[in-house]
Amino acid sequence: CVCVCVGTCFAYFAGTTSPHDQRTILTSCQPPFFLFETQSQIPISLNWFNPQGERIISNQRVVLHTEGVRSRLTIYNAIIEDAGIYRCQAVDAKGQTQEATVVLEIYQKLTFREVKTPQEFRQGEDAEVVCDVISSPSASKCTLILKKRVARVLPNNNLQILKVAKEDEGVYRCEARVEARGEIDFRDIVVVVNVPPVLSVPKESFNATADYQESVTFTCITSGSPDPEVTWLRKGREIERSEQYVLSTLEGGKSTLTIKNIKQGDGGPYTCRASNKAGSKESEILLKVFVQPHITHLRNVTAVEGSAAMISCTAEGEPLPEISWRRASDGQTFSHGDKSQDGRVEVQGRHGKSMLTISGVRLSDWGRFDCEALSRIGGHQKSMFLDIEYAPKFQINHTIFYSWEGNPVNISCDVMSNPPATMLWRRDRFTISNEGTSNTRIHTAEGRSLLEVTPMSDRDFGRYNCTARNNIGARYQEFILAQADVPSNPYSVRFASVSQRIATVTFMKPDSHGGVPIGYYIVNYKDQSSQEWRTVKSHGVQTMVLLTNLEPNTTYEVRVAAVNGKGQGEYSHTETFQTLPIRK
Ligand SMILES: *[C@@H]1O[C@H](CO)[C@@H](O)[C@H](O)[C@H]1NC(C)=O
Ligand SMILES: *[C@@H]1O[C@H](CO)[C@@H](O)[C@H](O)[C@H]1NC(C)=O
Ligand SMILES: *[C@@H]1O[C@H](CO)[C@@H](O)[C@H](O)[C@H]1NC(C)=O
Ligand SMILES: *[C@@H]1O[C@H](CO)[C@@H](O)[C@H](O)[C@H]1NC(C)=O
Ligand SMILES: *[C@@H]1O[C@H](CO)[C@@H](O)[C@H](O)[C@H]1NC(C)=O
Repeated sequence: CVCVCVGTCFAYFAGTTSPHDQRTILTSCQPPFFLFETQSQIPISLNWFNPQGERIISNQRVVLHTEGVRSRLTIYNAIIEDAGIYRCQAVDAKGQTQEATVVLEIYQKLTFREVKTPQEFRQGEDAEVVCDVISSPSASKCTLILKKRVARVLPNNNLQILKVAKEDEGVYRCEARVEARGEIDFRDIVVVVNVPPVLSVPKESFNATADYQESVTFTCITSGSPDPEVTWLRKGREIERSEQYVLSTLEGGKSTLTIKNIKQGDGGPYTCRASNKAGSKESEILLKVFVQPHITHLRNVTAVEGSAAMISCTAEGEPLPEISWRRASDGQTFSHGDKSQDGRVEVQGRHGKSMLTISGVRLSDWGRFDCEALSRIGGHQKSMFLDIEYAPKFQINHTIFYSWEGNPVNISCDVMSNPPATMLWRRDRFTISNEGTSNTRIHTAEGRSLLEVTPMSDRDFGRYNCTARNNIGARYQEFILAQADVPSNPYSVRFASVSQRIATVTFMKPDSHGGVPIGYYIVNYKDQSSQEWRTVKSHGVQTMVLLTNLEPNTTYEVRVAAVNGKGQGEYSHTETFQTLPIRK
């Protein structure tokens, strides 16, 4: 724009974005206008004043060029602030001044200052599509040409769409015009409407059994714009893909979480979270994990006879199992609150814990007890043994043993005890060592101790003491080693059948066998007229003897004696019988 300085000077910037970038020169001009020459006055100075009234001094951007009666003001890179009235003052030799002014107007090109595209909104909110345009003089009207639906243009030229909907999405055009210059420009703005996620869960609760390699798959269906991202959470932490967790996204907004190899600890709530720019939504899915009953604690118990035994059984599982007991000895079962008929056995405890109490434990309580844990989904059984400890008990009442000098005899001490007892023998106050003595030996086996005594004199007969001891207690039993005697006499000698040459003799065994068993009987017989006894031995302890080779028609005398280890006893009464005569 070259102005000859009468009146107004326009500057027009062809720049594009900011006025500061514009490289346009404003040229102003002078003298002839002042008509200095016509007044024959040569000005001695020519000064310029800016719109603020300050005298202009040349600098890099604002340059004064004076040549004779002509002065030129050049403004490089003009800015809006340079607009205003510039004054040119001429002073002549007489000190007279003359002035002229020039008006500098600066127009700004139409500029879209903040036209972001795309512009995003949340469905349902009142959207304000921003189209900030500057120009000078100001653009006549910024209009937005709506793609689909009529909306309201606000005084600040922004476009307002009330309760924006997904259908409002699209391209909107913002057009600005400076009619004075015929300038027109537009911007296309993409309006994006984001829709917060909507989430649905087809199945909210799942059942599974632990430790059966079971899997469950949760499904979460989402929609929204942009497509929501689905995350799965457990206890507030995001679940990541792993050996156990399989995450997948299917068509139609379906997302799944598969939990493999379910364990007890996997039970509880899981969260499906869908989120996008417009918001997030959550839904909970519950996994109920059942666990088979499992007995975790059942021990063998040892109780002391007469005391109380407490047997506890603990089981885990989901739901917690109920516990019952079975006594193997008679098959009787007990559960919470049950008592045995005699009141000694009692069971208390529910929900995975039970205690079986036996008071006044007896040896008959010994044996196996089965604990069974049972829940809706299964059962588990385990057995334990109740062992009963007791002080030694002597097994035999046979406390008198017989022998005779030189005859070894085993005195047997039989004991039942738990735990096994140690046994020792005593005579008077002296302990007989296990090595024995010259005439005693000790043979020990479990539950039995044999004291083998070979009596040498009267002193070896008498009382012997067997003491049995375990950690429960000690007991003793006295044994008597008695001198054996010969048996007393047999009696009731009879003749069962008598013929010419043969007779059968029967008799009763003696009242006393002398302390040791009878070995056999001796039967003496002779012809009444003879002096010599003939002898027949019984077969073992048979109380019947057959006499043969007798003379017919003869009277015989018979007597019987018993023999034991000690020797032969007294004879019975002598009896007589007669053999039959020979018939003619
Ligand atoms: C899970 O088990 C419970 C208890 O047995 C039952 O009430 C419920 O219906 C089951 N749920 C499913 C999804 O099978
Ligand atoms: C319990 O006692 C039984 C029978 O005495 C035995 O077989 C089993 O090994 C014992 N169990 C334990 C854990 O000691
Ligand atoms: C031993 O004898 C006593 C008394 O006669 C009796 O009570 C007990 O049962 C007997 N014991 C054995 C083991 O025979
Ligand atoms: C006593 O018992 C021991 C061991 O059983 C045996 O060797 C011995 O012969 C027995 N003695 C007598 C006299 O029976
Ligand atoms: C056997 O032992 C008991 C207990 O030590 C004692 O009282 C008793 O007198 C003893 N008897 C003999 C014969 O030693």
